[in-house]
Amino acid sequence: MVHARSKPRNLAHRGASALAPENTMAAFRLAEQLGADGFEFDVQVTRDGVAVVIHDEWLDRTTNGKGWVFQHTFEEVRRLDAGSSFGPEFAGETIPTLEEVIAAFGERMFLNIELKNSYFDMPGLEEKTIELVRRYGVEQNVIVSSFHHGSMQRFRQLAPDIRTGLLYDCYIVDVVEYAKKLGASALHPLFAGVKPEVVAAAKANGLEINVWTVNEPDHMRLVLAAGVDSVITNHPDRLREMLK
Ligand code: G3P
Ligand code: CA
Repeated sequence: MVHARSKPRNLAHRGASALAPENTMAAFRLAEQLGADGFEFDVQVTRDGVAVVIHDEWLDRTTNGKGWVFQHTFEEVRRLDAGSSFGPEFAGETIPTLEEVIAAFGERMFLNIELKNSYFDMPGLEEKTIELVRRYGVEQNVIVSSFHHGSMQRFRQLAPDIRTGLLYDCYIVDVVEYAKKLGASALHPLFAGVKPEVVAAAKANGLEINVWTVNEPDHMRLVLAAGVDSVITNHPDRLREMLK
């Protein structure tokens, strides 16, 4: 089945992360203000099982904490400052929970929830995500992605009605057939490896193709011309101008 979106989605990568601290409520609010259709963000679980929004497996780069996320309780990570490393005006931003993000934005924005479970086992992350998406009734506004393709296959078996995207940054032989076998709804490749024939094959097989992380206007033009379904960018403001 060939499908086409009338206009590609403008998805802010980790929120509007060029202009606000990544994966914070400030970055998600800014993405909305800048006209993004939605945003991508990263989820892990704390030692006591709370799904929290942070990219790195360790706390050091984006917060004033240290060490692995999974070795800390929610109370411990919640006390950290996740804004000051970006700029003093963001002091006091905290690490959000997945529930807070879904509750605040899930009804009106498209959410690409990336499960950050490819380095460490994150027990229950798939189930927690499904439970929250269902509790807030936002199934239609969500796509869940991961570099851990076994997790995506499992997610799809647990929740066949919630879309999944296969994240990858390398060449995969017969990627469309591979994605279909795993039950994925979309390919999520690094944009630099996207050839027009892959876009065409994805579309011909009813798969969306959502590319990351496209920040330069020339690169935005290239992927838009290739016919992708979503562009994930740190600069939703630039992309909005291009999509006008
Ligand atoms: O989901 C697209 C992209 O975010 C994957 O890479 O490292 O930015 O999480 P990364
Ligand atoms: Ca990500």
